[in-house]
Amino acid sequence: MKKIANGVYKLSLGASVEDRYLRYVPFHPSENMGLYEDCDSVLSEEDFSIQMFNGRIVVRYKADCGEDFYGLGLMLKKVLLTKSRKRIKVNADPTSNNGDSHAPVPFFISPKGYGILIDSVRPLTVCFGNNTAKRDRSQTKNFKNKIVTNTAALYFSPTATQEEKVISIETQESEGINLYVINGKDVKEVVAKYNLLFGGGALPSLWGLGVLYRTYGVANSTDVKRLAHSLRKDGIPCDVIGLEPGWQTNVYSCSYVVDQNRYPDFYEMKQELLEEHYHLNLWEHAFVHGSSPLYKPLYDLSGDFEVWEGLVPDFTLSQTREIFAEYHLQHYIRQGIDGVKIDECDDSDNTNGWSFLSTSVFPSGLDGEEMHTLFGEMYARVFEEAFQKEDLRHFSQVRSLGLGASSHSFCLYSDLYNHWDFLRGILSSAFSGLLWSPEVRQCESEEELIRRLELVSLSPMCLINAWMIPNEPWKQYDEKKNIAGEFLPNCERLTAKCRKILERRMSLLPYLYNAYYQYQQKGIPPFRPLVFEYPDDDRARKIETEFFIGDELLFAPFIYKVHGADRKVYLPRGVWYDFYTGKRFEGEQEITISAKDDEIPLFVKEGGVIPYAKPLQYTTSDTLFEVELRCFGERDKLRPCCFFSDDGVSYAYLRGEYSIQNVSVGTDGQYIISNSGKYPSRYTVTGIKYF
Ligand code: GAL
Repeated sequence: MKKIANGVYKLSLGASVEDRYLRYVPFHPSENMGLYEDCDSVLSEEDFSIQMFNGRIVVRYKADCGEDFYGLGLMLKKVLLTKSRKRIKVNADPTSNNGDSHAPVPFFISPKGYGILIDSVRPLTVCFGNNTAKRDRSQTKNFKNKIVTNTAALYFSPTATQEEKVISIETQESEGINLYVINGKDVKEVVAKYNLLFGGGALPSLWGLGVLYRTYGVANSTDVKRLAHSLRKDGIPCDVIGLEPGWQTNVYSCSYVVDQNRYPDFYEMKQELLEEHYHLNLWEHAFVHGSSPLYKPLYDLSGDFEVWEGLVPDFTLSQTREIFAEYHLQHYIRQGIDGVKIDECDDSDNTNGWSFLSTSVFPSGLDGEEMHTLFGEMYARVFEEAFQKEDLRHFSQVRSLGLGASSHSFCLYSDLYNHWDFLRGILSSAFSGLLWSPEVRQCESEEELIRRLELVSLSPMCLINAWMIPNEPWKQYDEKKNIAGEFLPNCERLTAKCRKILERRMSLLPYLYNAYYQYQQKGIPPFRPLVFEYPDDDRARKIETEFFIGDELLFAPFIYKVHGADRKVYLPRGVWYDFYTGKRFEGEQEITISAKDDEIPLFVKEGGVIPYAKPLQYTTSDTLFEVELRCFGERDKLRPCCFFSDDGVSYAYLRGEYSIQNVSVGTDGQYIISNSGKYPSRYTVTGIKYF
C-alpha cells in the first residue's frame, strides 16, 4: 500500500491503471490534513483478494461480525448499510433501498476507523451482507434450527451472526482497480479526512444560510415583487428569492434567455429585490435548446443524443465548461445573480426520455453510463468555478453530485416528498461530503406544514420550494385553493407560527455559520448522525431520526405520519438539557417527548454554550448579531463557544480576512473573549442565561 496522506493509503489491485473517477475530481488536500494524526491502515494489502469475473473485478475482504457500515452517498431510504447489498447508480427517482441515488458516492465507512474509496466511475455493487466463506461444518455441534412463521421474522432472522463477514465490492472495471483506504480514530475523523482530501467542506455565503423561497413556476416579475413585499410585510425571514422555469423563453430544453413577456424589467426587478435585501437565484438545467445562444458553440461539444430536443454538453471538457460559464458570467453572475438551481442532471429509469441514454457517446470519449455518474458533479463545477472567478461565495442547489464534492456550496434536493426520507437525507449525506436540503411545498394539513418547516428550518439549507403555488404555503397549504387565491381563515395565526420557526433558524445563524466554518477547515460536517459523536454506542449507531447540529445541539424532529403527538428520543451517554426549559436528562436512555406548538425538539450537551441571536429577516455584509449566550450545565464546566467573522460573501477569509472569537463564560455573568484575526467581529453579546 502506498501512503498518500496522513492515514490515507492507495492500494492498486490487478493491472496498474490510471485514475478513473479521480481524473475528473482529483484530490487537492487541504493543509489541515495535518490536524489529524497519522496512523497505520486498519486493513493491509493482504486482507484484500481480487478476482476477475467475465470482465468485472471483484474485491473482497473480511469484516468483523458486528461491524457497521455507512456512506455510498445520499441514501434516502436507510442510512445504515450493514447487512445490505447496494448497487450504487444515479437515479432521479430513488424510491427503493437498492443503492439508486441522486448522489451515489463510491466511498463507505466503518466505525472501526476506516473508509474505502473505490476509484470507478461506473455503477458498482457492494455487499455488506451476511455472507460467510465456505468452511467444513460437518463437525459443528448445536446446529441452529430456527423455524419462524411469518415473513418479517424470516427475513430478519440473521444466520451465522458470530462469524466474520465477507465484504464484496463488485466493479465494472476489467483490468485493474485502485482503492484508497482512509484511516482515522473514528467515523468523524475518517469522514473529515475524506473531506479535506478534496479541499475541505463548503462554506456558503452568510446570506445563503438564511431562508430561500422559490416562487411559482409561471410567476412574472409583478408576482415576484408582490411576493417579496408580502414576505417583508409579514416579517417572514428571507434572504433569497428563487425563480423557477418561467424566467426563460424556453425551458425543456433551456434557452438561458430571459422571457421578456414575463420579465420585461428583469434587471430592474433584480435591483429592486436587492434594495429589499434579497439575493436572486435562477433555475435551469443543462440541456440546451436550439434557440439558445449556447446551442451553436456547444453543438460539437455535446453527446450524440438529445434530451427534450436539447444538447447534452460534455462538461468533462474544459472548453465546454468555459463556454457555459462565460455565458452565465456575462449575462447573469456579473449582473448580480448569485445562486443557481441546476436541475434534472440525475438520470431517471422511470421517466423515459428525461435523460440521455447510457449508450450515448460524448466527444471526450466517455459513454453515457460514465457520464451519468459525472454529470451533476461536473455541471456544479461550472458554477463553482464561475463564482470563484468573481470572488463570490454562493449557496446553490443541484440534483446530482458524486465523489469529491465536499467543497461545493451546493445542496442536493429531490422531487420526492416523503418526510422521513428527507430527514435520512441529512444524515446519510454527512458521510460522503454532501449537503442535502429537505423542502416544503404545498401540504395536506397544518400539521404537515409545521412538521416539514421545522425540519427545513434546522437543516443545511432552509428551503421553501413553492414552485407549484403562487401564494405562501402558510396562507394556504392546499395546492388547488392556493392557486385559486382562497386563503385559510386562520392564515395570520399560521403565518405567525411559521415566522417563529424561521426566526429560530435566524437566531441560530451565528452558531450555524461557525459550524460551517469548522466544516470548511476541519472537514467535520455541520449536520451529522449520532454515530459521528458516539461510534462505540450500539444504539446511537442505528438512530435514523435524530442528528447533531454543530458540536452541542441534538435535534429530534417530529416526522409527519411517523410520529404523532409523542415521540421517543434516544439521548447518548452524558447529561442533556432541554434547549427551552433547561430540564436536565441523564443520557444513555430513551425519553418520550410531546410535540409542542412553538418548540422544535432540541437538546444541548452538558457544558454547551449556544449563542442565540436576535432574529433578523436577512443578513448583509454589515450585519451585527446581538447574541444571548445560553449556557447549559454546571457553571464551572462550560465550554467556550466560537464566533467566526468575515465579509460573508467573498473568499477573502482564505486570504486571511477573518477573525475568530472564543468566548468563555464565567460563573458570575461575566465572559472573556479571546480574539484572533483582524476582521471586525460581527457579534455583540447582549446577555447570558444559565440553565
Ligand atoms: C423539477 C424540480 C422542482 C421544480 C420543477 C420545475 O425537476 O425538482 O423543484 O424546479 O422541476 O419544473
